[in-house]
Amino acid sequence: MTDDAPRDHPLVPDNLASLQSHVLAEETLFPNATGDFSWIISAISLAGKTIANKVRRARLDDVLGSVGTENVQGETQQKLDVIANEVLLRCLGSRGSIAVIASEEDEEPLILRTGSEGGKYCVLFDPLDGSSNLDIAVGVGTIFSVLRNDSEIANSERTVCQKGLQQVAAGYILYGSSTIMVLTTGNGVDMFVLDMAIGSFLHVKSGLQIPPGNHTYSVNEAYAEQFPTGYRTYLQWAHENGYSSRYIGSMVADVHRILMRGGVFIYPPTRRNPGGKLRLLYEANPMAMVIEQAGGLAFSEGERTLEIQPTELHQRVPVLLGSPDEVECVRRLLPG
Ligand code: AHG
Ligand code: MN
Ligand code: MN
Repeated sequence: MTDDAPRDHPLVPDNLASLQSHVLAEETLFPNATGDFSWIISAISLAGKTIANKVRRARLDDVLGSVGTENVQGETQQKLDVIANEVLLRCLGSRGSIAVIASEEDEEPLILRTGSEGGKYCVLFDPLDGSSNLDIAVGVGTIFSVLRNDSEIANSERTVCQKGLQQVAAGYILYGSSTIMVLTTGNGVDMFVLDMAIGSFLHVKSGLQIPPGNHTYSVNEAYAEQFPTGYRTYLQWAHENGYSSRYIGSMVADVHRILMRGGVFIYPPTRRNPGGKLRLLYEANPMAMVIEQAGGLAFSEGERTLEIQPTELHQRVPVLLGSPDEVECVRRLLPG
């Protein structure tokens, strides 16, 4: 346990809190809470543990490689993309308060129940981010976003097309050298590590803050010639000013590094993806909420990512996020 874990009694040296007990304790701060929300987090946690187990056995079980199909975005689906998607659907499907589930891998959101049937929340996710890296055992992740269900809206796509500012919770699970969950419910950022031996995510850090002053950028620089001028000018400036670069190609792993160490993550518009590559609802918004809650900034070109009104489910946006000082170094070179 770290020094910053809350202590509840002077005679007890350090709290040992699971994700479950942490969320339940937070819920007691809201007198009207029904416990529905903690059931959703417990479903995401169960899915995370199950996916972690599949990822760890990737070369032992026959789960590597592509399934020979493409998802709705025309991207090759890996076997584990499909498995992770199914695990999340199975874990979330039984939770009575979920109205709608939307996945990067599925064309349409899945309506589980209406508002009048008790559907209070929508859960959106990228089941396996960075899945093209699976064959080489590099960190991959699950990204999730929880929204309130607006029972007035009958159309499921419109229901989930909410601004990132309206997220009730967001976070990710990183299947790296250890399995980590990073979670925000709008009250700072908490981190949990999966103890495989006892099958529980244990709380290791609250109030995570992204550090300033780290001159590091994370971008696929091989596409630089396709970037708009401002980003190219930034890279030139960074080269001349002693910057370092780190890029894995799994957003969860790249952003987690930025969150822990500081710096800036960029996925600019390219000639191939003029509107950016990363998805607003499954990738950009949940990461923007985490980063902002940790004291950082997140922009999509001239606009704060969390303020963008989504117009379609699988919408893509450019992404620029990280420590405020480093994000500003990029922004001063971009138009608007
Ligand atoms: P996904 O595996 O969910 O489709 O996401 C892949 C994304 C993201 O994880 C990463 O930041 C980006 O693709 C990398 O793209 P490039 O290979 O174009 O750099
Ligand atoms: Mn992804
Ligand atoms: Mn994915």
